[in-house]
Amino acid sequence: MAKRKMILDLDTGIDDSLAIAYALGAPDVDLIGIISSYGNVITSKAADNSLRILELLGAPDVPVFLGEPHSSTTEHFDVMAISQQIHGKNGIGEVDLPTPKRAVEKQSGVDFLIDAVHQYGADLTLVPTGPLTNLAAALKKAPDIASTIGNVTLMGGALTVPGNVSHFAEANINQDAEAANAVFTSDLHLTMVGLDVTLRTLLTKHETQQWRDLKTTAGAKFADIVDYYIAAYEVTSPDLHGCALHDPLAVGVALDPSFVTTLDLNMFVQDEGVDYGRTIGDPARLNEPTNVTVALTVDQDRYLKTFMTYLTALFKQN
Ligand code: BDR
Ligand code: CA
Repeated sequence: MAKRKMILDLDTGIDDSLAIAYALGAPDVDLIGIISSYGNVITSKAADNSLRILELLGAPDVPVFLGEPHSSTTEHFDVMAISQQIHGKNGIGEVDLPTPKRAVEKQSGVDFLIDAVHQYGADLTLVPTGPLTNLAAALKKAPDIASTIGNVTLMGGALTVPGNVSHFAEANINQDAEAANAVFTSDLHLTMVGLDVTLRTLLTKHETQQWRDLKTTAGAKFADIVDYYIAAYEVTSPDLHGCALHDPLAVGVALDPSFVTTLDLNMFVQDEGVDYGRTIGDPARLNEPTNVTVALTVDQDRYLKTFMTYLTALFKQN
């Protein structure tokens, strides 16, 4: 089977860790690198968490790069209290994983992305599941990558449902609406996997118990990490009866777009005012060819089955 080259751009919290596991468990992915971002934790901690998760999952050779530490319009980033509540202060549910045996790469995440697009072009898939600061910086530095990268499928935004950090804004977009707007209005073709679908794709303790029953280190650690996330959702979103698989759904849709139904649209991101961070149709480009494919509905059962098949097989070996 020809494997797809994939880069993840993560603010490695709990669902980002599940995205790493999905990419490693999928039979058709060659994970060539992870770029770090800020959001659930600060960028350096996201990198540290990615290294720990990769070692836990028997993939100690996947390189990890540091991305931007904050948006270009701010000088500093502080983790929001709600992020700490959902992911824990260490980003992985206060679960202790061994100190990584290796360090992050010397090259910057932005330069790694640009080089990878130049090397692999249409064979490369990028899945950002944090703010879009790194992708916007790469587009600014090397605008040619917009027309050469094969696939960009991001977790972020909300079109048909309210936001999760304000009435309008989803967390990843809210961290850097200016960068998100630059990406959404660029020449890139994007698939947006937002709250419209990720809040319908839920995991419960029924599934984490299956990982615990494997009696492996990875199974036990991931069960502990995700049980923390489920417990946080019981407080913040009791009506859902589970935790949202935001980031691993984006990886799933990048590999198999038939998990979702979509709408093709031109969009922009509001970067000021009360609706800061809103992802919405762009009235200035109503009649132009579209560049965003927005996921609107999801086949939860088929996705969850695939998710459990990939992750359970991976945790069984580690
Ligand atoms: C998104 O925000 C982050 O907290 C999660 O990891 C996910 O990428 C959900 O809004
Ligand atoms: Ca994330």
